[in-house]
Amino acid sequence: MTVHTIRLLPDPVLRQKAKRVPQIDGSVHKLIEDMIESMYEARGVGLAAPQIGVSLRVIVLGMPEEEPFALINPEIVKRAGERTVDEGCLSLPGYRGELTRSTLVIAKGLDTSGKQVRIKAKDDLLAQALEHEIDHINGTLYIDHLPSLDMLRKIEPEEPDEEPEPATSAE
Ligand code: NI
Repeated sequence: MTVHTIRLLPDPVLRQKAKRVPQIDGSVHKLIEDMIESMYEARGVGLAAPQIGVSLRVIVLGMPEEEPFALINPEIVKRAGERTVDEGCLSLPGYRGELTRSTLVIAKGLDTSGKQVRIKAKDDLLAQALEHEIDHINGTLYIDHLPSLDMLRKIEPEEPDEEPEPATSAE
């Protein structure tokens, strides 16, 4: 497994609409392993392939205390409700912002064996992360949902020597 450098804005790969995965072969499995490794290294709870420079429709999610998983060619099939969440992104370190996300999110996609799976999340970090990561493969970033970039707030960079804090928001 390889830990990759996370691409940062304004890297153009983050603004491309990523391509569908035509076939789940060894290279896709390797990509997913690298994405999970890179996500944990960066202390994120989710990562999209474009964030490591690969313009493919693959996302990984790793909720605290839960097994990480990947979704290939994911799509949101249903969303409902609205709630205000605080959010950041590994591709825009040092900032956070409050935005409106859905309360209920149902997504579908393929797992690593090519089986169609459906993920339902309500009112939790997973719901937020699904919307955030599926946005990424469409070239959308959370800052695009802010009414104004003035609503971004600067946060202290993380001290690498400190104990890792449990992740509390989608990355
Ligand atoms: Ni992000």
